[in-house]
Amino acid sequence: RKGKTPEEVVKKYLQKVKSPPEEDCTICMEPLGGPSGYKGPGVGPVSRAESVGRLAQCGHQYHFQCLVAMYNNGNKDGSLQCPTCKTIYGVKTGNQPAGKMEYHVIPHSLPGHPDCKTIRIIYNIPPGIQGPEHPNPGKPFTARGFPRHCYLPDSEKGRRVLRLLLVAWDRRLIFSVGTSSTTGESDTVIWNEVHHKTEFGSNLTGHGFPDPGHLDNVLEELRAQGITEDDGLME
Ligand code: APR
Ligand code: ZN
Repeated sequence: RKGKTPEEVVKKYLQKVKSPPEEDCTICMEPLGGPSGYKGPGVGPVSRAESVGRLAQCGHQYHFQCLVAMYNNGNKDGSLQCPTCKTIYGVKTGNQPAGKMEYHVIPHSLPGHPDCKTIRIIYNIPPGIQGPEHPNPGKPFTARGFPRHCYLPDSEKGRRVLRLLLVAWDRRLIFSVGTSSTTGESDTVIWNEVHHKTEFGSNLTGHGFPDPGHLDNVLEELRAQGITEDDGLME
């Protein structure tokens, strides 16, 4: 870690608020004009002048201590996400376990994409032991259905999506550890919030082709994780 305390991280994204509005803090539901309703370990006193802050980009206001408590509840990666509008400050990362992402082009067309070949992505994550960033640290996690094969059209837009998925993989945002909504199994590797197509020639699961909106949906889901077209260019 870069050695920044949670307070320093939060402060970096805040502007000063001279007089708090007569509204409640939506983290703790207490008035912004009064103290933070959050009482927990590591919550120290703050001076009156900095008890409320405004997030610099989106403008939403919270108790400083509420934001620090929220940050401490996450994976403490130096980034912060506004709980109201989801604007991301800094670079958001996830808790995807160690593994491998590979891809190659296969000489077949996907339903709905007759004019191009296909990119196949292969994700492989072995089972392991949960780290401090996972729901049950120290406990094993399972990994079902790996290697998982996923498909994109090898079009200009498909390749753009692939570049951003590579960024998402590096930021540990493609998978997470939790409870599978398909199987109900807990402490297992699950897809995070970026949809992938895992069926090639058919669409029995709803995760196949054709699906005209798919690439735009994925770009939107990547954006919600803080990954935009600019990220693809820098990689
Ligand atoms: N293919 C692609 N995405 C899927 C699939 C699938 N077969 N099943 C579910 N998803 C999507 C869901 O729509 C949801 O958005 O993944 C997200 C998380 O769902 P979970 O069921 O919690 O995820 P997980 O247990 O990882 O996946 C279920 O997907 O790739 C397969 O082998 C995998 O059979 C497993 C299934
Ligand atoms: Zn608050």
